[in-house]
Amino acid sequence: MNGVERTGRARLLLRSVRPYGAEEPVDLLVGEDGRIADIGELEETDAAEVLHADGAVALPGFVDLHTHLREPGREDAETIESGSVAAALGGYTAVFAMANTDPVADNAVVVEHVRRRGEEVGLVDVHPVGAVTAGLGGQRLAEIGSMARSAARVRLFSDDGNCVDDPLLMRRALEYTSAFGGVVAQHAQDPGLTPGAQAHEGANAARLGLAGWPAPAEESVVARDCMLAGHTGGSLHVCHVSSAGTAEFLRWWRSRPGGGSVSAEVTPHHLLLTDELLEGYDPRYKVNPPLRTDEDVRALREALAEGVVDCVATDHAPHAEQDKDCEWSAARPGMLGLQTALSVLVHTMLRPGLLDWRDLARVLSEAPARIAGLDDQGRPLEVGEPANIALVDPQAEWTVRGEELAGTALNTPFEGMTLPARVTATISRGRVTARDGRTQPYGGVLR
Ligand code: DOR
Repeated sequence: MNGVERTGRARLLLRSVRPYGAEEPVDLLVGEDGRIADIGELEETDAAEVLHADGAVALPGFVDLHTHLREPGREDAETIESGSVAAALGGYTAVFAMANTDPVADNAVVVEHVRRRGEEVGLVDVHPVGAVTAGLGGQRLAEIGSMARSAARVRLFSDDGNCVDDPLLMRRALEYTSAFGGVVAQHAQDPGLTPGAQAHEGANAARLGLAGWPAPAEESVVARDCMLAGHTGGSLHVCHVSSAGTAEFLRWWRSRPGGGSVSAEVTPHHLLLTDELLEGYDPRYKVNPPLRTDEDVRALREALAEGVVDCVATDHAPHAEQDKDCEWSAARPGMLGLQTALSVLVHTMLRPGLLDWRDLARVLSEAPARIAGLDDQGRPLEVGEPANIALVDPQAEWTVRGEELAGTALNTPFEGMTLPARVTATISRGRVTARDGRTQPYGGVLR
């Protein structure tokens, strides 16, 4: 990209972009209303800003259903501001901030704070996720209705980090949220099967002396919750699917009548990394659910390609240095993901021919926007649609360095890896929020 020229009026002209990876580049004009005004070979216009994209692939701005922004409470690990910077640099125009903050986002005051702070930062739409149970305690429902009615208009609820273990509470949450079109996003992990779990239960964990996290602890909760969703008419979203067995179950369940009320996500790290990496006990590879086997990775890639798993969500989980730079058992689980997601997807899914650029638009933008009920994200790149756009240089190669990523956390599992493709610019409602590694706030307000 050669830089930005300032000329006249309409808001922005993108010169030479390839929507969904099309062969022939076109120009894309954004009007003052932040919507796409024209697409084609455009003459000189009165655009206030001209961005020369040099044939970059244009995709709808990415939507992350699963981001940990750590504010309030652990601002030493991440803030809404630093997480928004990472999101904009990664091509995201909307993120869902998980509720496991301190205080927990289980009431209107906290979710409104998160939303307002996101608007002040003004780089990406920050949608707070509400907790399902009070204090993530798993004992009684949180103030779901008041979060839904609040100015934050919460639609996605999750105890992520913890499983909603009690079947009756899960049933009630599905029933309650279905009354207003809400979704319950479950962290599927039977606590009774995973006491002290440290690693995928298998040969590697046994050899390394780490307590196992067996795949059926995920699969059995997913099966139970699908049945509860079917029974109640509620909407269930399965967080971070990690095992071949879960993918197989979802394939069967979703092919049945009514199976469509269940959706699922997979993380970039579960599409690439396996428990072989645990050899050196490096806590950067500790995550929950854990990295599993080659067979699981293959099954997850297939499930995403088929649409059995709808979308990619990062589970971006920044941690302060002292929580990762310690021995395995004391380290917190979690990995950075916002700035590497697109590249990992190109590496694991696009280059092997499992998905094309249009499919990437589906799994990174359209499907998550649909699941969360956002009507202004995940829209086609067409005239009249909101100009939420990620520009990608498909030829780029870069080596991941935690120190060079946004924020203070360093815990990328892709440290030192050379990955293909890179987000070169992000446009949110017609304003350039990130370009060539730098961000600029749009100061926008969520509708
Ligand atoms: O690895 C994880 N980290 N998994 C979770 O479910 C929670 C997350 C966190 O909050 O750090």
